[in-house]
Amino acid sequence: MKYHVWTMGCQMNKAESSRLAGYLASLGLENVKDIKDADILILNTCVVRQNAEDKVNGMLGYLKGIKQAKPEMRIAVTGCFVTDDLSALSKSFPYVNHFFKPGESRSFEEWLLSESVGNLHGNIGMALQSVSSLSVYIPIIQGCNNFCSYCIVPYRRGREQSRTAEDVVTEAQKAAVAGAREIILLGQNVNSYGKDLGNGTDLSGLLALLNQLEGLLRIRFLTNHPRDMSPDLISSIASLDKVCHHFCVPLQAGDDLILKAMHRHYTYQDFRALIRQTRQMIPDIALSTDIIVGFPGESEDQFENTFKAIEELRFDAVHIAAYSTRTQTYASEHYPDDVPYEVKIQRLRRVENLQKGILTEINRQLIGKTLEILVEGKKGSKWYGRTYSDKVVFFTGSQDYSGKLVSILIESASPWSLQGIPATV
Ligand code: SAH
Ligand code: SF4
Ligand code: F3S
Repeated sequence: MKYHVWTMGCQMNKAESSRLAGYLASLGLENVKDIKDADILILNTCVVRQNAEDKVNGMLGYLKGIKQAKPEMRIAVTGCFVTDDLSALSKSFPYVNHFFKPGESRSFEEWLLSESVGNLHGNIGMALQSVSSLSVYIPIIQGCNNFCSYCIVPYRRGREQSRTAEDVVTEAQKAAVAGAREIILLGQNVNSYGKDLGNGTDLSGLLALLNQLEGLLRIRFLTNHPRDMSPDLISSIASLDKVCHHFCVPLQAGDDLILKAMHRHYTYQDFRALIRQTRQMIPDIALSTDIIVGFPGESEDQFENTFKAIEELRFDAVHIAAYSTRTQTYASEHYPDDVPYEVKIQRLRRVENLQKGILTEINRQLIGKTLEILVEGKKGSKWYGRTYSDKVVFFTGSQDYSGKLVSILIESASPWSLQGIPATV
């Protein structure tokens, strides 16, 4: 029997897909590249913006035709497209055999069993992941309690639910034994980890436990809410040798009134102070952020405040999105989506260009420096990997560098990557 897992969206979805694929492989199913060849097809969906939701609907439309030609194909849909009202979904998409909410692997297992595939003894949560074992995603907290006014995620992924530290460490240990060198801890709000457990567990404590694991070289985590970025956590990043000097902390907007309307619960000055303190404690920290442009009511001046913030804070990466109305959210019910599409795109391009210039400068300063790279593989004749600060580096070399930490002398730089040669010691 053959399977295919189709995935879009964030790292959380990639991690969950890789578990589902690992589970199906453990049952003896064969992975196929072409959707049409699959007996079991899983769609792992994202609806963070309208264009993502359009892509899901497009795929479902395509599958309707495929299913007519191949009625024995079984289709399961998971991810954030799946609402609480499963029966309404089944009515709208009768050719989908099973819908299950993200992370509800038990429901998936039970369905497989009802289709005479698999058994209930497999534990998908712990199934070995099928993707590159060098770098492994480990979800540590599901859901989000923040309810930012624009965001659909809490409605689709529910409230925060942390895994126990023991569970996470066991999984990380298994991954390390299987050859992983890097783990990336995931959550919508990863630095809120442990609060719901009520036993004093937090992200700093978890990082300290993971830092002791043999075989692992690097630990990363994403994404953080600025409000939950504690001094304790920053000290842990500074002091634990495997924890990379890099994290993502979404600003979303540089204007206080917009931040308030977004229900972010901080001001630009609070955010700026956090960045300043982090850079004082960890001078080589690399920071990335997310920005939304064209939020309802965003005036030209308010957009300028966001633009100036990006200019001032000089991030190592900025992910920019144009505001998109999402059903159920506070913003969709209270604020008209009144910034014209062309204006949103103009603002998006302006921030993109600004950031391109900033990265050109930041990366140019790295020329002549020697940086440690965890080598991920080869593209054409070049090896590539990432620095501690998550920058992609390409280099040439005749040995097999796969999975190794290599010191690279940087010779040239573009905004998006660096090039170099192995440094001679
Ligand atoms: N929990 C993370 C990620 C949430 S979704 C966080 O708090 O940052 C990833 C990014 O998508 C967000 O950071 C935000 O910038 C963007 N996003 C979320 N909802 C959006 C919407 N309705 N319109 C445009 N961008 C959105
Ligand atoms: Fe969405 Fe805000 Fe939660 Fe991030 S913190 S997932 S933007 S509600
Ligand atoms: Fe998309 Fe859900 Fe992730 S909406 S970004 S798949 S949390």
